[in-house]
Amino acid sequence: MIIRNGMIVNEKNMFISDIRVENSIITQVGKNLSKHQAEEEFDAKGYYVLPGAVDAHTHFDMPQHDIKTSDDFYTGTRAALKGGTTTIIDFAESENVENLDEGLLAWHQKAKGKSYCDYSFHMTVSCFNQDIEKQIEKLVKEGITSFKAYTAYKDSMGLYDYEFLKLMDCIAKNSATLCVHCENDEMMKHFETFRTLPNFDLRNHPLSRNNIVEKSAISRIIDMAEFTGAKVYIVHVSTKEGVFEIKNAKAKQLKIYAETCPHYLLLDETKYELENFESAKYIMSPPLRSKADIKVLWDALAEDDLDTISTDHCSFNFQTQKQLGFYDYRKVPNGIPGVEHRLELMLHNFKSHNLEFTDVVKFCATNPAKIFGLYPQKGALIPGSDADILLVKAEVSKISEKTQLQEVDYTPFEAMELSFKVKHVIKSGKWAVKDEKIVSSKPWGCFLKRNRG
Ligand code: URP
Ligand code: ZN
Repeated sequence: MIIRNGMIVNEKNMFISDIRVENSIITQVGKNLSKHQAEEEFDAKGYYVLPGAVDAHTHFDMPQHDIKTSDDFYTGTRAALKGGTTTIIDFAESENVENLDEGLLAWHQKAKGKSYCDYSFHMTVSCFNQDIEKQIEKLVKEGITSFKAYTAYKDSMGLYDYEFLKLMDCIAKNSATLCVHCENDEMMKHFETFRTLPNFDLRNHPLSRNNIVEKSAISRIIDMAEFTGAKVYIVHVSTKEGVFEIKNAKAKQLKIYAETCPHYLLLDETKYELENFESAKYIMSPPLRSKADIKVLWDALAEDDLDTISTDHCSFNFQTQKQLGFYDYRKVPNGIPGVEHRLELMLHNFKSHNLEFTDVVKFCATNPAKIFGLYPQKGALIPGSDADILLVKAEVSKISEKTQLQEVDYTPFEAMELSFKVKHVIKSGKWAVKDEKIVSSKPWGCFLKRNRG
């Protein structure tokens, strides 16, 4: 197949060119490519041609207490694909915290044959001992090269500092990457001792995990990363104070990488003032922040102090699942959907925040691929890369729950305007989305063994 005369957008440059795809791989990028016999041609004049986006933070088919996320791998990756995401990295968890293989196997079963995107997993680590160390070593050899740990939730899945230090030693030894959810657990617990608002008041959620809660945990994790030499990726950074810590760490050349999400860039804390329990739609951790925080997040992207934009897609239905916390803010399932709209939202918003078109590719595709050991297979349109190709047009539309593919009864970005549309998607060299419609009811996403990144 030849895609002709499109505006190719990679992380650093944009230029008009043709792309040749053979089997599932990009074999040539250049002008006036000569047609092989019977080769399909697509006229991409007027289209932006982007590498398939990589979402390094999703939660599909994930249990939370007695329920599970409303999107599984089928519905979640179908929505992702429609929005231009062709690779996802989901967080696998093990019920038996002593046995990571059990969790990984469960996640393979959830994804196999059901994923429209190519996929991999970060493996969550909820305790640390010599046996877990051996398991990590084995998993890295099998292509699971990133792990996740929580500073929050110490009573269940969170780790204590002495465990973090040992885990980071192990991560450094194996040249792996540790993703960390950074919130200070003690501060969140302490909040309950001076809380004045009643249980049902959803404003408790942002108050219980204010900026200092995130900053404190990020700062401590960075100290431990410096002490151990581990490569650390801080997930869902939401505060200006967190950005400040990360900026300093990067200035010291530490191996610290950081992510933010569309909801932290586009929505603010006034969502916790809504009537009729509507605020529950925005309950995830960390919570939404102030306009001042939002400005710092955008500036941090422009200055490369943040590295990626992923979604932390973790969908719960408003009507049946978020309502579980109607009488107690602590029981609202935590999470927000976003996998379908991330790329188009960023394409609409980059210009007004001093970013370039190429930056959208960098944050949504190239950097996540590089950090997590998938580059240049993913995240670039260059010879040798997988033929995951987006054909995007400048076209106005609006986000609506009514038209989304995500299996959830709301979108936090309802009625937001978009100025670019993912019209067609080629996934592994085959048409996967045509005219905004999913081509096949049978997904062909594959598990990706990753390098150490
Ligand atoms: O509230 C959130 N972010 N839910 C998803 C799970 C997690 O902690 O990332
Ligand atoms: Zn998450």
